[in-house]
Amino acid sequence: MTPDASDLLYAIHHTRAMRRLKSDPIPDEVINQLLDAANQGPTGSNKQNARWIVVRDPTQKAKLADLNRTAVNAYVGNQYDVAPNMRGIVGAVMWQRDHWEEIPAFLIPCLEFEQTPNDTWAAGAGSGGSIWPGVQNLLLAARALGLGAVITSLGLSDRAAAKAVLGLPKLVEPYAIIPIGYPTGKFGPVTRKPLSEIVHYDRW
Ligand SMILES: Cc1cc2nc3c(=O)[nH]c(=O)nc-3n(C[C@H](O)[C@H](O)[C@H](O)COP(=O)(O)O)c2cc1C
Repeated sequence: MTPDASDLLYAIHHTRAMRRLKSDPIPDEVINQLLDAANQGPTGSNKQNARWIVVRDPTQKAKLADLNRTAVNAYVGNQYDVAPNMRGIVGAVMWQRDHWEEIPAFLIPCLEFEQTPNDTWAAGAGSGGSIWPGVQNLLLAARALGLGAVITSLGLSDRAAAKAVLGLPKLVEPYAIIPIGYPTGKFGPVTRKPLSEIVHYDRW
């Protein structure tokens, strides 16, 4: 049978953030399938400078849990005050904060630079643009394999501490911490603003 990419559109519309995850281990070959999918993403000038850290060691998970907890606690206080419509998400964020060490694996997307990136460039499309296509590939591959995942960034708020935990060289920058596991809940469709609110034709 000829491969058919049409199911991809279904996956795109049904890959939402999954934070409540089972502790069941993920087989190595499945982790490799995820990383292989991520590795098919494009990079600027085809530099192929995306790098990935797979974190499964309990001591390492505990250190990342500390960083995440500190940042989530600072963030959650504000969210309850200013955004009641965020409470569903915040409940899941807090579940993940409290069960972080039981999650079987965390994948850390990184970029390796040739020279020290300045702050503007490191945060901008010119650099992050080479990691996010791979990240989205990874999320879609996880969905295809029945795994739940979510992009998280709060655990990188103290970037120097996160880099130290991960042993990252000076020219390697982390962009997210992606918890991965088999979901406790059901997959469902994402809910987004309609195109009429976000698209402009020919000019703003
Ligand atoms: C750049 C970025 C940073 C994010 N950081 C966090 C985070 O630190 N913690 C978290 O639980 N979710 C985080 N998220 C997940 C978003 O909250 C989630 O993707 C968004 O609410 C859409 O969820 P949905 O696809 O289920 O609708 C982040 C997402 C992105 C794209």
